Amino acid sequence: MDKNSSTHSLSHQRLLYCPSLPAKLRDLSSILCEKRQEATHPLDPRIKTLFPHLASLPLSRLISSKTPSAHPPFKVGVVFSGGPAPGGHNVIAGLFDALQQISPSSELIGFLNGPGGVLVNAFKPLTKVLIDQFRSQGGFDLLSSGREKIETPEQFASAAKTVLEHKLNALIIIGGDDSNTNAAVLAEYFLSKKISTQVIGIPKTIDGDLQAEEIEISFGFDTACKTYAELIGNIAKDALSSKKYYHFIKLMGRSASHVTLECALLTQPNLAFISEEKKELQQIVDEIVSLVMRREKAGKEYGVILIPEGLIESMKETDLPEKFRAQFIQKDAHGNIQVSQIETERLLIYLVKEELKQRGYKGKFHGQPHFLGYEGRCAMPSNFDANYTYALGFTAALAVRDGLTGVIAAVRHLRSSAEYWEPAFASIVHLLHFEIRNGKEQPVIQKTLVDLKGGPFLRFASQRKSWQIEDLYLQPGPIQFFGDKELIDKGPLNLSK
Ligand code: FBP
Repeated sequence: MDKNSSTHSLSHQRLLYCPSLPAKLRDLSSILCEKRQEATHPLDPRIKTLFPHLASLPLSRLISSKTPSAHPPFKVGVVFSGGPAPGGHNVIAGLFDALQQISPSSELIGFLNGPGGVLVNAFKPLTKVLIDQFRSQGGFDLLSSGREKIETPEQFASAAKTVLEHKLNALIIIGGDDSNTNAAVLAEYFLSKKISTQVIGIPKTIDGDLQAEEIEISFGFDTACKTYAELIGNIAKDALSSKKYYHFIKLMGRSASHVTLECALLTQPNLAFISEEKKELQQIVDEIVSLVMRREKAGKEYGVILIPEGLIESMKETDLPEKFRAQFIQKDAHGNIQVSQIETERLLIYLVKEELKQRGYKGKFHGQPHFLGYEGRCAMPSNFDANYTYALGFTAALAVRDGLTGVIAAVRHLRSSAEYWEPAFASIVHLLHFEIRNGKEQPVIQKTLVDLKGGPFLRFASQRKSWQIEDLYLQPGPIQFFGDKELIDKGPLNLSK
């Protein structure tokens, strides 16, 4: 919690929030990871070659069964990896509370500043007193995060040295697709070196693109979208009140447009682009120009347009005006273009202005650029994310207790009330496919893009035309923590596949 906040602050109230724990996770001695062999689809032989140990492990599922109530104490390390996402602190709180329930002398340590902290053994012990200051708070500041990729032989050796020095039973990596790919690589390395430390992933990212049969949505997506939707709703009200600007709002979400789609459904802007529709740059510009001209005829020289940051990924650098090309070259450690650093919102304003000029448009056009990204990644988690992450922490503790490695802890049936959610595990090697990264073919978890035949997109597609000229903006307002159950506990629309 913010050291300066008083006991009457919302963040203090949030510390006292008691996450709703699914019935199945309340008594951990009544649930057991059963190892079973069958996989729904066979593994790519290249994955089998690269991950021989993980590929030969049986898949696991949780069943109701009485387990011994006495366990030796566990020592577990946890690390945040990649961009922050609301709810991260509750994963740690859930993990801590569950380990205490399983074996009260268990210890939890946190590695600092991301996977790099594991390499240099920078850590802090996570005690109840410390964790209690971060329950249901936003951010990753308990440990901080980083984007290092563990990939060289020296880095693997350093990671091994750290886990052996601490005699860790398990390392929990709270990360997105790339971090969980890294978790599998590390798990395989430990198995090949006969190091007993298990590696378990947690599905984090506001992008919402880490999904699988067992993983319905990554944590943080709900809160981030609700935060952006509040701001978009406010901007739309401003547009309607001032009637002077076209607001071009770029939204985070790298390659996938789940965030933009969710925000569009929550706020009903005049236009929202979805990268997965794969429109050419000129088509996008034409659509905006046509919107501006039609709205001007209706007496409206303002509007709201949502742009996913990944829109730029499919564009050719050579099609861009000179002044925007330089932004294209930055890549992160995992080989991703740093789309957040590209000013797509300004690029589109520039191109639309030029096109309007060419077409002899006589009306007014003032583009106002916005980028909503960092504003939502550390927000105080919604009840959905606070409950979900706490349950993920409990599920990870079960994976530790029952000896699983190379898996992502998951929670299913998220459309139901938290009472009925069910813990599950996804085997990471079963989520891998091959992609060219940094010029090399590499195994990575396949990002889940917006399904153009899925419920949320079809709902958007059936309504978007009506939002163009009529102003049907919605203003969802801030995330609510108190009050009507439907209002405070509702999860993201993305779950309504
Ligand atoms: P993760 O996948 O690590 O959760 O991060 C996602 C994200 O928030 C993207 O939406 C955005 O493009 C990127 O991080 C920004 O990265 P950075 O924090 O390095 O600027």
